Amino acid sequence: MKQLKIGLLGLGQVGSGVYSILNSKGTELARKCGTRLLISKIAVRNTSKRRLVAPKRSLITTSALSIVRDPELDVVVELIGGIHPAKELILAALRSGKDVVTANKALLAEHGRDLFREAQRCGRTLLFEASVGGGIPIIKATREGLAANRIRSIHSIINGTSNYVLTKMASSHVDFKEALSMAQKKGYAEANPKLDLEGIDSAHKLTLLSSLVFGGWVRFQDVFVTGISSIRSEDVSFAEEFGYTIKLLAIAKKTRSGIEAHVRPTLLPKSHVLSNVNGSYNAILMHGDEVGDILFYGRGAGSLPTGSAVVSDLIDLARMKREGLKLPAPLHLNRLHVRNVSVLESRFYLRFHVVDQPGVLARISRILGGRHVSISDVIQKERKIGGVVPLILLTHKAPERSVLRAVQAIDRLSIAKGKTQVFWIEES
Ligand code: NDP
Ligand code: HSE
Repeated sequence: MKQLKIGLLGLGQVGSGVYSILNSKGTELARKCGTRLLISKIAVRNTSKRRLVAPKRSLITTSALSIVRDPELDVVVELIGGIHPAKELILAALRSGKDVVTANKALLAEHGRDLFREAQRCGRTLLFEASVGGGIPIIKATREGLAANRIRSIHSIINGTSNYVLTKMASSHVDFKEALSMAQKKGYAEANPKLDLEGIDSAHKLTLLSSLVFGGWVRFQDVFVTGISSIRSEDVSFAEEFGYTIKLLAIAKKTRSGIEAHVRPTLLPKSHVLSNVNGSYNAILMHGDEVGDILFYGRGAGSLPTGSAVVSDLIDLARMKREGLKLPAPLHLNRLHVRNVSVLESRFYLRFHVVDQPGVLARISRILGGRHVSISDVIQKERKIGGVVPLILLTHKAPERSVLRAVQAIDRLSIAKGKTQVFWIEES
């Protein structure tokens, strides 16, 4: 039987998942793809670390470079993360004639154009199923299953860690710090969890998904990003009173004026299909011109779900090699125009902290009205913390720019204490 010799870079959460799947299902997978998937070398930083799996010592090295240069290997699987040295290692692997599989969305979103161009130049394949949506086979589904469609929009929850934190805050009333530490223990978080919490990881994934479905390259720098670290438990409760859930949503749309792409805490009606996506689960709701709405749902992070996506790429590679085929380039690399979000319109949630005195609501509504922002709902709470009460307004649809300018003016008033919380509301 044919063999696909694999060099694995990294034996952390995802690397262990890949090792464990190949180790436990070797014979079954070999039957499926007619090729034995063989891990021949593994690179780690620290050889004496305790791990989730226990490969033979002889497979392990600390020299990732020796793996990418090894002429005996067919494929390099990059699972070390980060930009450097991952980028240089992938380039070296491609240049030495190897196909590459990676889960590294940060690297692909920020340097993907260089890497895909180099793969093309070298006549090699660069696969990245695990880089978006963990175990959800979203790359294959959009590239193949939705190929007949023009995708109009993506509404997605694509960061398991932040979704886990928000779910814990809403359901178990666990505080932010504790929820994050639980997500880290479960292996969902990035080495630097700020990437998860500040929305950057979601923006990396949205960059890749949008580039895949909108027929050009969306630059990561053009995606607007706000994370979840400013969300307070009181916001979760107030949103609930109005009938909404707060989720970190990654949204992209293709319009006549360009691409809209933004990641931010968003209020969703409780009846919305994405409102009930909890814990480390991810979901991607797309709208295609032929298929209509289509929803993908599954575990978005963790060792085995992500390992499952990496192994699916290895199986594709093995089958292609056996048949002497090549996958076409998955992405168009011409740059797409992305609109500035401040011109976009939405309803908004505004949470002020104001002094409890007559006339406050009138002053705030006058400033909003002056910017043509009209109010649809109000809650004012009695509980005073240091003489200050929360005042929560929902607006009708208005341009974000007008809302932010009004809020800046209100925050300068002596009645306003602290920075106002502004969240986007997505109704459909
Ligand atoms: P981990 O931090 O758990 O593992 C990283 C591994 O890479 C470790 O085994 C580390 O070695 C090794 N490593 C780091 N630098 C080097 C180097 N220079 N040379 C050799 N080995 C090195 O990360 P994850 O497994 O969580 O993530 C890996 C990639 O997968 C990242 O790109 C991440 O964004 C992505 N990803 C992660 C998911 C998840 O759920 N965790 C889901 C989807 C994608 P050592 O163990 O000795 O320190
Ligand atoms: N840190 C990422 C997350 C891993 O929490 O979604 C999966 O890409």
